[in-house]
Amino acid sequence: MRINNLSTHFGIEVNDFDLMDINSDNISVIKDLLLKNQILVIRDQKLSLDKYKEISLLLGDITFYPFSKGLPDHPEIVQIRKEKHQHKNFSEMWHTDSTYLDNPPDFTMLYAEVVPPMGGDTVFSNTVKAYNELSDAMKIVIDNLECINVSDLHSQDRTQHLATIQESKALSSIHPVVMKHPKTGVKSIYVNEEHTHSFNGMTRAESKGLIDYLTNFIKRSEFTLRVNWKPGTIAIWDNRTTQHHAVNDYHGHLRVMNRITLQDYN
Ligand SMILES: [Fe+2]
Repeated sequence: MRINNLSTHFGIEVNDFDLMDINSDNISVIKDLLLKNQILVIRDQKLSLDKYKEISLLLGDITFYPFSKGLPDHPEIVQIRKEKHQHKNFSEMWHTDSTYLDNPPDFTMLYAEVVPPMGGDTVFSNTVKAYNELSDAMKIVIDNLECINVSDLHSQDRTQHLATIQESKALSSIHPVVMKHPKTGVKSIYVNEEHTHSFNGMTRAESKGLIDYLTNFIKRSEFTLRVNWKPGTIAIWDNRTTQHHAVNDYHGHLRVMNRITLQDYN
């Protein structure tokens, strides 16, 4: 296993390593790397979708995305496609995955099947570092706030990028504004631009200024890294310590990604 840092503070790239060699006896290697580095970008994998699913189950329980039925033979896998002719992409706004659910996924895995020759990167933010760089007074202001997250804050047509669609009503859930990681105890900013509507007990107008500040703050370059995908790249990230968005800069090219979301085992 050859490891390169993707930034000075989070994220690693793993080369010369085959996920086929991972089993219940040695999955702790991956879990430990993930806990320590927040994002793993594992290159040159050749897993079948069955094997991909099998390995994901070593990390956690698979969670189901409410807006897609998944692939016909693999309902646990959500395929995200941007066709050559499509202009909009999926997940362009900064977000943490599905925070409108009461139990949003702790981990997300993305397996690149088809990628554009250039572009189509995903940018990640280290929301632990962002939290740590807030002033002490701001930390006190937000430490005990809760936020209301909704699935339909911004009008978006998910249907055009999901291989299968599931009709679902709009969803919402309340979460702490500051996430305390259950395993490491580190704190992170847990409001996000795509889904956070307001602070619990406040109007949206009262909340919006501070939500905008925090959701813009996490985008600062010194908190981020950029992942370039190649066919066979599998990324795994911890949603409790990161946010991400998909860069929409590859019009005219197909991009196909297979996603699995997971709840961490206790
Ligand atoms: Fe996402």
